Amino acid sequence: MTGRLLLIPDGPAVLAYTLPLLAAMKQAGATVKVAPTAYDGPSAANLVSPLAWSSLSGHPCLEIERLDAETLRWAELIVLAPATPLLARVFRDGRAAALLREAGRPVLVLASCLAGQAFSADEACSWQKALPAGSCVLPPSGEPVSLGAMGTVAAPSLEAVLETAGRMLAKADLAGRRVLVSAGPTVEDIDPVRFLSNRSSGKMGAALALAAWRRGAKVTLVHGPMSASIPELEGLERVPVRSAAQMHDGMAAAWPACDVAIFSAAVADFTPDHYCPEKIKKVDGRSLILHLVRTADILGELGGAAHRPACLVGFAAESDDVEINALAKLRRKHCDLLCANDIRRPDAGFAVDTNAVTIYTAEGEAIELPVLPKRQVAERILDAVVQRLSRKS
Ligand code: CTP
Repeated sequence: MTGRLLLIPDGPAVLAYTLPLLAAMKQAGATVKVAPTAYDGPSAANLVSPLAWSSLSGHPCLEIERLDAETLRWAELIVLAPATPLLARVFRDGRAAALLREAGRPVLVLASCLAGQAFSADEACSWQKALPAGSCVLPPSGEPVSLGAMGTVAAPSLEAVLETAGRMLAKADLAGRRVLVSAGPTVEDIDPVRFLSNRSSGKMGAALALAAWRRGAKVTLVHGPMSASIPELEGLERVPVRSAAQMHDGMAAAWPACDVAIFSAAVADFTPDHYCPEKIKKVDGRSLILHLVRTADILGELGGAAHRPACLVGFAAESDDVEINALAKLRRKHCDLLCANDIRRPDAGFAVDTNAVTIYTAEGEAIELPVLPKRQVAERILDAVVQRLSRKS
């Protein structure tokens, strides 16, 4: 996430919530200035000194009383982190509201409430009305944050904040598009304790779903049991499945409405011909023979269906003859783009955070990407998707 952010913290949650958020924003690549509230009581400047805010952000600490339209315009995004009743009085109802409207910068309101209180839709609505166009009120989500002796506070999860800030700063070149993504492994149950699966973590598919969401798309993510985590976000629907047959049904249900489909799941090609409801017992001296039958080739089947998305993207995990196998898969499965990765490389493929992908196009072009974090690989794949969509429209 690159961009200039102005963080306005307030209240008792600054230590447990805003400081980790500031660190996460900087880690994600943002330039952050801080204007803490200052008053007698649990203000942000009382709980964390202005000197500490300066050294943590890497920029001189701003005085909230002296904020002017020029300082606000420096920011591409203003974040009320978290938004408290006091910040509501100042930025929703007070003189600063007019200043914000004059600066015209979008505001991200991280709604917070103390334990036991609910954040109401009316409150969200009154924030939304008072703020410049493009602003967003993020309701509390995830686990409440412990404030030690001061109890707990509910606020949006850090992941949800980073993704939402990323969406507000990103180019919305997939706005109005419906993107369908398959991700993760599938699991084929043998009996109540045993199953067949594979080493996919779902990280590449999760990165693709989040990148498409940040670029403005409505996303449906059909995923097997995966270790990658995805925050709750409005407009990103998750459809958890287990087996290849369930993934087939999840993808087929969302297929008719999608404009772009990306198949990054590692789907089992074989499944036991029957599920044994009791645990299979071993018998001395006897081996166990499992009879496996083929699963449906989801991409192959939907790729040949009557509905055709504007862009269909497949993946290929290959251990040899990468280019030959990838191009054969691209044609066999009716793809527009096929992303191939060589799973013999230690920095690519399953369970690692980086990937080395070559994108093959239906016209025979090959776009070779360097080894990159999966988040960046996802952006580059979506660049290729957007380029294709713009050629078609
Ligand atoms: N795929 C699918 N359904 C399957 C198998 C694969 O939708 N039953 C999709 C994958 O999500 C991927 C592409 O097809 O986008 C290629 O998957 P891969 O496992 O590389 O190829 P397979 O078709 O399984 O061929 P092989 O295992 O023989 O290489």
